[in-house]
Amino acid sequence: MSNVEIRNHPKFNNIYISGASENLKLYSKNLIPGTQVYGERLIEYRGIEYREWDPYRSKLAALILENPFTNFFKDDLKCLYLGASSGTTISHLSDIIPNGIIYGVEFAERSIRQLIQNTSTRANIIPILGDAKHPENYTKSIFTDIDLIYQDVSQPNQAEIAIANSNYYLKDTGILILAIKSQSIDSIEKSKKIYEQEKRTLEKARYEIIETSNIHKYAANHIIFIVKKKAI
Ligand SMILES: C[S@@+](CC[C@H](N)C(=O)[O-])C[C@H]1O[C@@H](n2cnc3c(N)ncnc32)[C@H](O)[C@@H]1O
Repeated sequence: MSNVEIRNHPKFNNIYISGASENLKLYSKNLIPGTQVYGERLIEYRGIEYREWDPYRSKLAALILENPFTNFFKDDLKCLYLGASSGTTISHLSDIIPNGIIYGVEFAERSIRQLIQNTSTRANIIPILGDAKHPENYTKSIFTDIDLIYQDVSQPNQAEIAIANSNYYLKDTGILILAIKSQSIDSIEKSKKIYEQEKRTLEKARYEIIETSNIHKYAANHIIFIVKKKAI
């Protein structure tokens, strides 16, 4: 039995919190009760099972803790997730958008095998073995419009990959959430330059950064851009 009291997140539907604001913990309601994906803590509260969502393991959780003003979730969201890995973050998304679909693209065979093992009971996740640099190669696996692209691939040409996928799949009114890793761990100046360079690349391709969130506290050298297409 746990004595943690869980309540609704004040802004994001299907995300739950506990604790005081300076020490907030995040949770999602377990779509497949009794199962863990990455050893996360399971907590039962008033007959419902929740999975603790660790911001040190998930940049999306870190973003939520930084209180973005854009509300990018809805129950039936169609999401293209680039860099799905073995399923840590995507499994929470699967809890958060029970009536949606998440297409999870991953190019490492070992990771996609783990992703399939970890999430095969979650009907709203479609794993795709593919290289995010070539969005044209997975068109046959994506059969709906895309409301949200979430990208976390840690590649040098992050913005270009995001643009290629957004041009291909993202609705005109859709949102792109892009985790940007600066390649230099040693210099704040160099990191700033990389963020600026990625921002310019996006703007040149007619994308507008509507919000920037610094998640260094949880993921070294990462910031997150929330982006939309510029109106024509
Ligand atoms: C930082 S990890 C992602 C972690 C994951 N987003 C999570 O929170 O659960 C980056 C992943 O992107 C994958 N990746 C890197 N480049 C890729 C590409 N071009 N296409 C598809 N996947 C890629 C890597 O294999 C790795 O699994």
